[in-house]
Parts: sequence; C-alpha cells; structure tokens
Amino acid sequence: MVAGRRLSALMLVLAVALGLGQAGAADPTAVAGTGGAVVSAELAASQAGVEILGAGGNAADAAVATALALAVVHPQAGNLGGGGFAVVRFSGRVAALDFRETAPAAARADMYLDGRGRPVAEASLIGPLAAGVPGSPAGLRELHAAYGRLPWPQVVEPAIRLAGEGFRVSRRLSGDIAEEQALLGRFPSSAAIWLPGGRPVAAGALVLQPELAATLRDYAAAGPSAISEGPRAAAIEAASRAHGGILTAADLAAYRPLWREPVRFSAFGWQAASMPPPSSGGIIVAQTCGLLQRTGWAALPRFGADRAHQLAETWRRCFADRFQLGDPDRTGFDGSPLLSASWLDLRAGQLRRHATPSKKVRPWSEPAARESGQTTHLSVVDGDGNAVSMTTTLNGSFGCGLTVDGAGFLLNNEMDDFAAAPGQPNLYGLVQGEANAVAPGKRMLSSMSPLVCWRQGEVLVLGSPGGPRIPTATAQVLLNIVVDADELQAAVNRPRIHHQWFPDAIFAEPDALAPETAAELKRRGHELREIKAIGDVSAVRRAADGGVEAAADPRGGGAAVVQHPAPG
Ligand code: DON
Repeated sequence: MVAGRRLSALMLVLAVALGLGQAGAADPTAVAGTGGAVVSAELAASQAGVEILGAGGNAADAAVATALALAVVHPQAGNLGGGGFAVVRFSGRVAALDFRETAPAAARADMYLDGRGRPVAEASLIGPLAAGVPGSPAGLRELHAAYGRLPWPQVVEPAIRLAGEGFRVSRRLSGDIAEEQALLGRFPSSAAIWLPGGRPVAAGALVLQPELAATLRDYAAAGPSAISEGPRAAAIEAASRAHGGILTAADLAAYRPLWREPVRFSAFGWQAASMPPPSSGGIIVAQTCGLLQRTGWAALPRFGADRAHQLAETWRRCFADRFQLGDPDRTGFDGSPLLSASWLDLRAGQLRRHATPSKKVRPWSEPAARESGQTTHLSVVDGDGNAVSMTTTLNGSFGCGLTVDGAGFLLNNEMDDFAAAPGQPNLYGLVQGEANAVAPGKRMLSSMSPLVCWRQGEVLVLGSPGGPRIPTATAQVLLNIVVDADELQAAVNRPRIHHQWFPDAIFAEPDALAPETAAELKRRGHELREIKAIGDVSAVRRAADGGVEAAADPRGGGAAVVQHPAPG
C-alpha cells in the first residue's frame, strides 16, 4: 500500500506543472491527459486529490481531500478554522454549498468601533475577536456526504499523513511566513510551528503538525463533531477567550452549512454557474458577462483601450451594486434583481466613451431599478466530467494569526469582511453598506466566485483568491477562453486589470496596458494604478472526448496535476 502510494507519487511528479512564483522561477505549463485533474495552491494538495481520484474517488472526494491537504500544507488560507464556498456540477446538475463563517452569537454591530464610532485599528483583523465561526469542518463533510463515493476516513487520510509524517515547505509558504512574521510571532502557538527558533521555516524544511494530525484523525472517525463539540470546541473557546475573542463552543455546535441555488448565467455561448450571496462574486461575474454581451465588447480590438475601458466601467457598476448585498437570510435580498434583463439593459446603457466618476454611480436600489491577504481556490474534474470549484479562506494570510492549542489549526479573521463601519473601506478598500453590518449569526459578504461552465460536453472550472479581485480575475480568464479562444495556460497567464468602484481607479498589472492604451484610458478620465498581481487562478478544462487540461497560475505557487498524463 505504502509502496504503491510512493510509486504513484513518483509518477505524478513526472506529470505536474509547477508554478514557482514570479521571481525568476519557471512559469507553469498546462498539463494534459485523460481522467481527472486537480489544480490547487500546493503540489502536495493537488497530488492528494489525484491520489483519491486514482483510488476510485470522484470530483467531490478529490476536492475534499485537496482542501484538507491545503489545511495542512497551505496554512495561509487552506483551513479547518475558516470557511468557503463550492459550486459543483454532477451528472449535469449544478448546486452551490455555502460553508461561509458566521458571526458569533455575542457579535454586535459596533464591536469594532470605539466610543466615538471610529474603527479600532486591527480589531477585525488580528486575534480571535476577528474570527467568525468556522464553516469548513461541517462544510467539507457535507460536500462529501452529498456527492462523495469513497468512505469518509479514506478522503481525510492524505491530510492526516501530511500533518503526521510531515511535509516539505514550499518557497511560497516560507516567503509568506516571513511576510507575516509579526502576526504569527504574536501568538506562541503559531510561532512554535511556523517560526521555530524565532525564524520563518525555510523552504525545503520538514514540518510536522502532530496536534493537527490528531484533530484530523478524530475528524476522520467522528466527522465535524470532533471539532465542534467536546474537548476541541472547549479548546477553541478557551484560546479565543484568552486572547480577547468571543467565540464559544455553543457557536461551533450551532454552525450549519447551507445548500443554495447557484447563480446561473450565459457567457458567450457557454452556460455558467457560480456562488450566490452571501458571496457577491457570482453576481459580479454574471453581471460582467451580461453587460459585455450587451455592449459588443467581444467585437472590439483585443488589448485595446475600448475593451479595458468597458471592463472598468462595468466593474465600477458591479461593485456599486455590491453595496446592497449581505447575508440574504438577514437582508431578505438575494441579489437576483441585479441580474434582471431590465437592470443589465439599464446599466449597459449607462456606459459612455468617458469614465463615469464613481461618486456619480449609485448602487442598485428598489426605486431606481425599477450599489495582502489569502484565500485559495481549487478546481477539480473527474473522469466522468463531474466538477467541483471550491474557494476557501481564512480571509487574511494566516487568518487572525492564532493557532488553537489543543486543535492545531489557525482561526480566521473573516469578521473584517463585514462592514465594521458601514461606508468606510475595509482591508481590501471595499466600501460596503448596512446590508453587510455585523449581527450575531450572520454571514459576512464575500467576493469569492467559484465558477463552473459547460458547453456541448465541455466543462471549464475556474476560481481564484484575491478579495474583490476574485471575480474580476476569474471573469478575465473566462473571457480569454470563451471570447478570444486562448489556450488554457495563456488565458491564465495574460496580464489583468481591476476596478472596484472605490477607490476610483483602474488597477493594472505590469504589462497589462500598452503605453498607448494607458494614455487613451487617462484621456477618458481613468486614474491608473499599478498592482503586482491580480488573483491566482486555478483552471481545469475537460473536452467532450474526455481529454483534460489543467493550468496553475504563474502569479502563485500552485500546481496542476492530471490523473493520466498524455505521453510526451
Ligand atoms: O470572502 C472574501 O471575499 C475574502 N475574505 C477573500 C479574501 C481573499 O481572497 C484574500 N486573498 N488573497
């Protein structure tokens, strides 16, 4: 068994494409073959998923195994102490799983404000007061219960192995630990794992996480109650209280993942499904396609100012509409009017040759209609063409920084995704409304947009981290494929731009805009700001004949693995 595993791991190494990051490293090349494919932020996690496919698992088994492996080898964002969303397509039917964190029962609308109503620095970002109730333990189990084929303990096994026997630290992880050294150094339980001897773990070092391995073993045996009840729930409550948090064991026991009706839309001849609120991401990607299909965007010259201008003007309006979104179970607003033909017509009709200042773009409203962190995305298909597109997050890199003694995992800082002070920018500069104010038990608004698209037997699975840049990065890769017929890797690699209403500027990666395009955009009234990277897209495409192609993003350190690589 062990020898077999080693052999298959060796074969996989021959078939992977590695993204080693921007600085002087080789860019990834898409891998092709047959059977299933997995793209995730770390090679060991993608391999865990393909190992499970090889053992007879389907896309749900592989996605859960990959997500749990990421909780071990990609602690910046992979998690048990955070949450996420998954869009699945099985036997042609789509579904959306919401395992987003919720605000603890003791949360209050003003919990991050001082006596004068001003946000308290770092309160919604650092330490367990920033943590929402984790959704991943129950969410991943739910995905497996609904769609998985292999026994649950088998799906957890690769993560147990990586935690118990150890894994080699990647260059990206080592660099990210160094970047967050101050955060992790505040909490001895986190520093003990990631800053041994007070220094970031070096790339290539072996890291063992025995406490996390024990948690995963009990999770394999008992499911989410191994974390949401008993000694681990007590440990989470104690760790939270010791550092000024409000999470309780009762919060953990009360958490439930929810199945939701996906946002469905057409994208230039493809059908598409993504996440509805409490994520804004699916709506933004759907609005983007809806507007661009109305404005003749596809016929405009590629890489020219007209296209960039229309994208920026579209996203300015999408993010203005986002202002009205929040947890649909609290606001009673599911966002569907934002995708109505009449609203998309109206929005498309507002686009002019010149930039509209964001302060003049009002969010959708009832009367009128008639507005460096870490997350991680994994894309999976299996040999039958079933697909899972899953984005999970702790919000900021390494979440709130606190590793729970007695459980071995980091807690999120997802509470910062609420509008801590409505109208004021959050970690990502997003200006959000009352609809997304903090309230007990409420889910904070997200931008994650796990996406599955299909057309005549073909399937495309996309998604990304990047806060508000998630839907804009995802939409650009989608457009590169469905409008401009790019190869998968080229579609992922192309430089990207971004706009999010406020700040009122087009963010552009280096090389995204030719000098004459940039000059023309400035003439049209756009402010341009350079940004190093927009998103980190994981992409899988399956052809009607069963051929698969998988691409990691050179912006990150991810890895694409296919089950049966094509020779050569
Ligand atoms: O849910 C959201 O939209 C954010 N918490 C995602 C954070 C993120 O993508 C950070 N990654 N780079």
